[in-house]
Amino acid sequence: MDMEIPILKGRKVVVGVSGGIAAYKAADLTSRLVQAGAQVDVVMTPAAAEFVRPLTFQALTHRPVALEMFSLWQETEIGHVSLGKRADLMVIAPATASTLAKLAHGLADNMLTTTALACRGPILLAPAMESGMWANPATVANMEVLGRRGYFSVGPDSGRLASGAEGVGRMSEPDAILDAARWVLGRNGPLAGKKVVVTAGGTREAIDPVRFVGNHSSGKMGFALAYAARDRGAEVTLVHGPAARTAPHGVRAVAVESAEQMQAAVLDAAVDAAAIIMAAAVADYRPKAAAEHKIKKTQGEMALELVRTPDILAAVTTRRAQSGSPRVVIGFAAETCNVLENAREKLTRKGLDLIVANDVLAADSGFGVDTNRVILIDAGGGAASLPLMSKQAVAETVLDRLAALLGRC
Ligand code: C5P
Repeated sequence: MDMEIPILKGRKVVVGVSGGIAAYKAADLTSRLVQAGAQVDVVMTPAAAEFVRPLTFQALTHRPVALEMFSLWQETEIGHVSLGKRADLMVIAPATASTLAKLAHGLADNMLTTTALACRGPILLAPAMESGMWANPATVANMEVLGRRGYFSVGPDSGRLASGAEGVGRMSEPDAILDAARWVLGRNGPLAGKKVVVTAGGTREAIDPVRFVGNHSSGKMGFALAYAARDRGAEVTLVHGPAARTAPHGVRAVAVESAEQMQAAVLDAAVDAAAIIMAAAVADYRPKAAAEHKIKKTQGEMALELVRTPDILAAVTTRRAQSGSPRVVIGFAAETCNVLENAREKLTRKGLDLIVANDVLAADSGFGVDTNRVILIDAGGGAASLPLMSKQAVAETVLDRLAALLGRC
């Protein structure tokens, strides 16, 4: 599985580590950023170096760690402001109460605060401290000042703190910080200011309070599309069926169960959307009536009467015919045979701009797995067969096509 993330690839990211116990998690964050393809430089405060040795970060980044303000060789190699000046993004994780206070007042008394003050790119803070310090009016005021000056922040989370107590103050997990970093980097991307609706996962059609008619969709493809759209700066609404995954940072997630609920949420979100990508596996039939109580088993057989669910895409394109919005509509076709033929027929019948077809019975493709082999078919009839790719890579390709289609509109 490729670990590279396009929005981070080749980007210059400075990780600033200040002195809290969460500094150990900064090593994991650094490793993830490096694996994502970023060029990572680490700056540490002297207090941070009490918790984790600079060597750890040096080994992870293969680059010198900036720690000493007045070290002769660091001045030659790095320069006390050059890291900040050339950074595409600075992530301060953990950001302690003391470092937040210094930043709020523009102090430059160590390598981290100096780099932050000289930084021309955006700065993302991942605060971590004891809950009383976080709630202290001084910290609250410092965060307000920093927010007004355009600093971004993620967390802190609530949970177990290093003291053993429960409360707010835990640094966000490295995955969540990485996700917020992607959002910050992508916010001026090619889809900035554009609303994109993405659907993901399968729907559940109730038989009774404990049973449903469903399908094997995991939501992986739809969530990957939401990440890729968000990374390009889009304002994403992700309408998803039951899925045990967290929505990407900055994305508005709407959880639904049935096809009818999904239709209501999609039509609501699509009103002023530029585009919609329907990756959800929507049930085509639902039980005619859901029993109020659990159906008891009997000796004999049982027949379930099913009725059609609404075709959400058809409703979207019908509305587009009247209002012109959303401008681009992309559908998916999960097929088990005659993939190209069936997908072309769906594209025409549903009035789509692009359809992403895949053979869900093929190995490494379709439901549940992390990879997909798809064919992209456009309204002009052109078909492009993509090789086996990660779902994230498929999502990137689909979003590139979407950006091109929107550009043409
Ligand atoms: O007709 P079929 O279900 O194969 O079409 C697939 C495409 O239509 C997908 O994009 C799916 O999300 C969408 N769909 C829908 N409403 C339904 C069924 C499918 O929007 N009731």
